Amino acid sequence: MSELFGRVSHAVVREVPQSLCRAALRSDPGQAVDYGGSVRQHRDYISALQDTLGLTVIRLPAEESLPDAPFVEDTAVICGETALLTRPGAPSRRGEVEAVKKALQDLQLNVVEMTDENATLDGGDVLFTGKEFFVGLSKRTNQRGAEILADTFKDYAVSTVPVCDTLHLKSFCSMAGPNLIVIGSSEGAQKALKTMQQMSDHRYDKLTVPDDAAANCIYLNIPSKGHVLLHRAPEEFPESVKVFEKLKDHMLIPVANSELAKVDGALTCCSLLINKPSNE
Ligand code: GLY
Repeated sequence: MSELFGRVSHAVVREVPQSLCRAALRSDPGQAVDYGGSVRQHRDYISALQDTLGLTVIRLPAEESLPDAPFVEDTAVICGETALLTRPGAPSRRGEVEAVKKALQDLQLNVVEMTDENATLDGGDVLFTGKEFFVGLSKRTNQRGAEILADTFKDYAVSTVPVCDTLHLKSFCSMAGPNLIVIGSSEGAQKALKTMQQMSDHRYDKLTVPDDAAANCIYLNIPSKGHVLLHRAPEEFPESVKVFEKLKDHMLIPVANSELAKVDGALTCCSLLINKPSNE
């Protein structure tokens, strides 16, 4: 699996509805979202995946009754040929799963549904390292959700990590390479990393960035490009970007995300990444 970690051929994204500005869930109600700006940033994100990296992008239409739907990551966990549809922790988000289910079935993935009404799971709480899963136990994800994930992906160890101060586990961490965890500097982020290290049999390298939000990036392994990292733009997090610039083997792609971040949307939130090897 290690040499294939980050290999992606397709991405599922969902357009931004106007209702996101007034009705998307958010931890800080004080910041107004600029709709035009959010659409532009989302379009540039899609363009990075499609035009710069050559992925096949499946765009689901916006749905005004689902203001958080652009954050497709929360609706499914995909590993290999299997997609586990989640039961999002916020009841207002459960309707997002249906359109994603259809898209993943159309891609001929083995789609598993989370039907247990005691389970909740947001994909933003799931960190897959290529070797194992870490699942954040947060306001959105519970132990039963983590158990169902473990039952679905039996080839991998699954460990749970308490998440207290942020929306999701990946609000302050992500992968930047096959063995490299990017982690924010806050006390909560560092505590979660320590928990992950204690629970794991693997020794990961770590890249510490000053800003927790900048630690959410997207690592891809694209045959014609090698290691690729989509990360937050330098105008948003200049000090963290200086850290990414030390990754000399990576193609770095800065992506602005300040508008969706106002409703707690991070870079990983906005796509579901899938590897469907061609039959040729
Ligand atoms: N706005 C993203 C979420 O709260 O789920």
